[in-house]
Amino acid sequence: MGSAVLVGTQWGDEGKGKICDLIAPDFDCVVRFQGGNNAGHTIVVGERKYGLHQVPSGIMYPDCISVIGNGCVVNPKVLLEEIDMFEGDGISTANLKVSGNAHVIMPYHMVLDGAYEELLGSHNIGTTKRGIGPCYQDKMARIGLRMQDLLDEGVFRDKLGRVLDRVNPQLEKIFGLPTFTVDQIADEYLGYAERLRPYICESGLLLNDLLEQGKSILFEGAQATLLDIDHGTYPFVTSSNCTAGGAVTGSGVGMKNIDRVLGIMKAYITRVGSGPMPTELAYETEEGHILTEQGFEYGVTTGRRRRCGWFDGVIANYSARVNGLTDIALTKLDVLSAFDTIKVCVAYDVDGERYTTIPEHESRFASAVPVYEELPGWKVDITGCRRFEDLPVEARDYVSFIEDLAKTRVSIVAVGPDRDQTIMRSW
Ligand code: GDP
Ligand code: IMO
Ligand code: MG
Repeated sequence: MGSAVLVGTQWGDEGKGKICDLIAPDFDCVVRFQGGNNAGHTIVVGERKYGLHQVPSGIMYPDCISVIGNGCVVNPKVLLEEIDMFEGDGISTANLKVSGNAHVIMPYHMVLDGAYEELLGSHNIGTTKRGIGPCYQDKMARIGLRMQDLLDEGVFRDKLGRVLDRVNPQLEKIFGLPTFTVDQIADEYLGYAERLRPYICESGLLLNDLLEQGKSILFEGAQATLLDIDHGTYPFVTSSNCTAGGAVTGSGVGMKNIDRVLGIMKAYITRVGSGPMPTELAYETEEGHILTEQGFEYGVTTGRRRRCGWFDGVIANYSARVNGLTDIALTKLDVLSAFDTIKVCVAYDVDGERYTTIPEHESRFASAVPVYEELPGWKVDITGCRRFEDLPVEARDYVSFIEDLAKTRVSIVAVGPDRDQTIMRSW
């Protein structure tokens, strides 16, 4: 197996954690390349369920090197809590590495995230309030603090003082909120630094050394294509590049090293937070209720109920294009077993015009009316199927229909949350 990028193709929560954990044994290293603890990736191993926010999903395998790349933002407190959880469960974090160039999420980032959202009022993004946007904002403004800054008290205090010169007036004058002092933050963060010191490294060099030795890397995306800062449904997006291109900038390896791009696609669609969603079904409708409850669509990070809707083929096709997908892992097919018939969106109508790709203008996307095709359901439990041939013909046809829309093969089909509830076709 060469190296591969794994990305979300919708609005997140497609089952990236499950698939990443499943295929990680094929790789020597798993690296996260963007995002922070806004992510919530679920791994189910027998009776035990883990919700990972910062740590790559390769952590379950002791021989696998897990890297938090330079494109990530890191909340040191949350990272240490995760490390403690794994160590407490007998899962070693000795092979965990954190890039010295990853940016640090600071207490004022979280406060500002909440304050910005409040200021937006009814136009809010519905962020996770984990400080992600403000942290990336400081990165782009070239005033952010990085993991390497934690390792030198003098540098940390000096840089922090200069950031607070900008942040405090904002907190005080615009939002009427309490300000921060250098001592207050340094006391807390330098404590984390001592514990994190052994994990911090020059990760770009480490990854390139692995590749030179002929080792393989799995790049684990967080969030998803439609939450990408450039290719997503702006402004209702996150603040990083979640699409496949982010894997190279967010880790420091060259593009020639990527062999496959695996898109994780839910057999229907969900979204957390604000913004347009053409195929959304209200929770109060029978279909919306079934998708939410059968799919247990509640956020891993914030516990919010996810908005649910029918599979959107326009989005699938768009995601295949902007990520250059070579393969799809179709997840949660079992959730659709409840329906007599299943709708799939194949196009949008916008002001009398038909679209088979996402309209570039955001107001056009916001008023897109889905054009559906209705496919027969299968109405039998498929959670025990382990070979593609075991699936009822209607389920196989559903998979083929999606392959046609996305113009990409479905190489993996997931029929339940557990590792073994999976059909490997061509991975
Ligand atoms: P991620 O953020 O993309 O890793 O996805 P989440 O972990 O936030 O959400 C996916 C949810 O679906 C988790 O609760 C998984 O355990 C669960 N899940 C993953 N694949 C399947 C599947 O094929 N069937 C069912 N029923 N649940 C699944
Ligand atoms: P995983 O990796 C689903 C959403 C938030 C909000 C928007 C911006 O588990 O798929 P942010 O806090 O990032 O500034 O919020 O993005 N969002 C996610 N939705 N899954 C995620 O991660 C998400 N991470 C952020 O709900 O709409
Ligand atoms: Mg998630």
